[in-house]
Amino acid sequence: MEQAHIELKNVSKSVLRKVNNVKVRTQILSSLDLKVQQGELITIMGASGSGKSTLLRLINRLSEIDSGIILLNGRDIRDHNPMELRKKIGMVFQLPVVFRGSVRENIAFGMKLWKNDIDLDALADDAAIPKNLLDADAGQLSIGEKQRVCIARALANQPEVLLLDEPTSSLDYKAAGKIEMLLLDLRTKKNLTVLWVTHEREQAERIGGRRLILMEGRLEEGHV
Ligand SMILES: Nc1ncnc2c1ncn2[C@@H]1O[C@H](COP(=O)(O)OP(=O)(O)OP(=O)(O)O)[C@@H](O)[C@H]1O
Ligand SMILES: [Mg+2]
Repeated sequence: MEQAHIELKNVSKSVLRKVNNVKVRTQILSSLDLKVQQGELITIMGASGSGKSTLLRLINRLSEIDSGIILLNGRDIRDHNPMELRKKIGMVFQLPVVFRGSVRENIAFGMKLWKNDIDLDALADDAAIPKNLLDADAGQLSIGEKQRVCIARALANQPEVLLLDEPTSSLDYKAAGKIEMLLLDLRTKKNLTVLWVTHEREQAERIGGRRLILMEGRLEEGHV
């Protein structure tokens, strides 16, 4: 059988929550299994607080699992250098974060770090950032434009996987629709493996792909 691109086996994760100033350990993910094939598109839904963001963060080691194993191309992600891993597994968050400086500098941030020889104009094009915005102050962009900058920055590392944590939910309806289409186009164009967390059922339906729901610490096939 073909090797999975990403595989989670028996993954558990708990967090320490402060309740009335007492730390209480709470189980978030319990013996969770998931196999994702190269180029596959998966949407993940689930109640607020069910652990969707936690799950994505474990895959690029922004957070560490308690037990189990996560494999990328058959290799334990703990055997990868975390920086190299995050280059292969890009992430886009609900709220776009831009650094001080121009749009150009923001997009080139990863490229400088990795000394990638990628055409910045082509990247801007991929993320549908107009040329006349490249020298604008990134901090002054609209949220939708900032999200495009974040997408371009992730693409600069030439990732194999994109983890999308509600990438359109802080945008207005129109901007959200455009980013949604952009991400779907990029996925096809670059043959990316995509795990897309959304809280909107309509969006999950539009996105297509395999639909999963995070419930009680595990992923269930979901058609609700
Ligand atoms: N570092 C942490 N310390 C303590 N509790 C945490 C930590 N990270 C997450 N949690 C808790 O874990 C649970 C899952 O959080 P997570 O952000 O993964 O949920 P989510 O499904 O993404 O929710 P939402 O839909 O609201 O974004 C929440 O109850 C949250 O309070
Ligand atoms: Mg979340």
